[in-house]
Amino acid sequence: MEEKLTEAAILECLKTTIIGRKIIYQPEMPSTMDTARKEVLEGTLEGTVIITDEQTAGKGRIGRLWSSPKGCIALSVILYPEASILPSIIMVASLAVLYTIRHITGLNPMIKWPNDIMINHKKVCGILIEGGVKEGGKDHTVIGIGINVNLDPECLGEISVPATSLSNELGREVSRLELIRYLLLKIDKLYLTVRNGIAVYKEWQQNLDTLGRQVHVKMGNEIFEGVAESVERDGSLMLRMREGNLKRIVAGDVTVRY
Ligand code: BTN
Repeated sequence: MEEKLTEAAILECLKTTIIGRKIIYQPEMPSTMDTARKEVLEGTLEGTVIITDEQTAGKGRIGRLWSSPKGCIALSVILYPEASILPSIIMVASLAVLYTIRHITGLNPMIKWPNDIMINHKKVCGILIEGGVKEGGKDHTVIGIGINVNLDPECLGEISVPATSLSNELGREVSRLELIRYLLLKIDKLYLTVRNGIAVYKEWQQNLDTLGRQVHVKMGNEIFEGVAESVERDGSLMLRMREGNLKRIVAGDVTVRY
């Protein structure tokens, strides 16, 4: 049987500098993002991590719901980054998840722009970045990460893209504790890297499965079709349109034509 998540178990041997200075674990929460927002209002430490086994009102991107049944990893990390590194936070989060899944499972995930983690073109992890300015306080960013670990993807209900889980891909269960510890370590390392002024966008670009592919992008009410050609330093996607011009996509929902 899998080891239980506890604050002490997560902290055991955790050699991070910032991430995990405070850990809040509860077996069930509506959403780790809501708990994170309350922690920010109380002026919590940078690097505070909120983890749960199960969310009853998980939040996805673009106002969608995120299903987080038992067997998933649902966590949020609170950061107070300088404005200059804000565009890199999305890259820090997706690279950290990618390296963690590769290291712990040997599987070969890729990033679908901007921050879905895919295995064999199926979504195994979603990342939500929320931020804002606290009244009279510092700017904050909350990274929310949801990984389908030991669960049957059928139980996720109706979702916009085909989904998978690590256990579904491997045919065996994976230790969530090991995944969480390695993930926090990787977020810590990459966050320190970008804080020290070193860009990670080339590393991120190398792991993007979207480049060179024909894509369909929904940005607000607009739809664009083209070939995903490159990414800029700030993470925006450059789309070569049928007419030959380049269109910069800052945020949107991408469907890749494989
Ligand atoms: C997406 O739509 O792809 C983003 C999903 C993000 C889900 C995670 S699970 C932990 C954190 N808490 C939430 O309510 N959402 C994020």
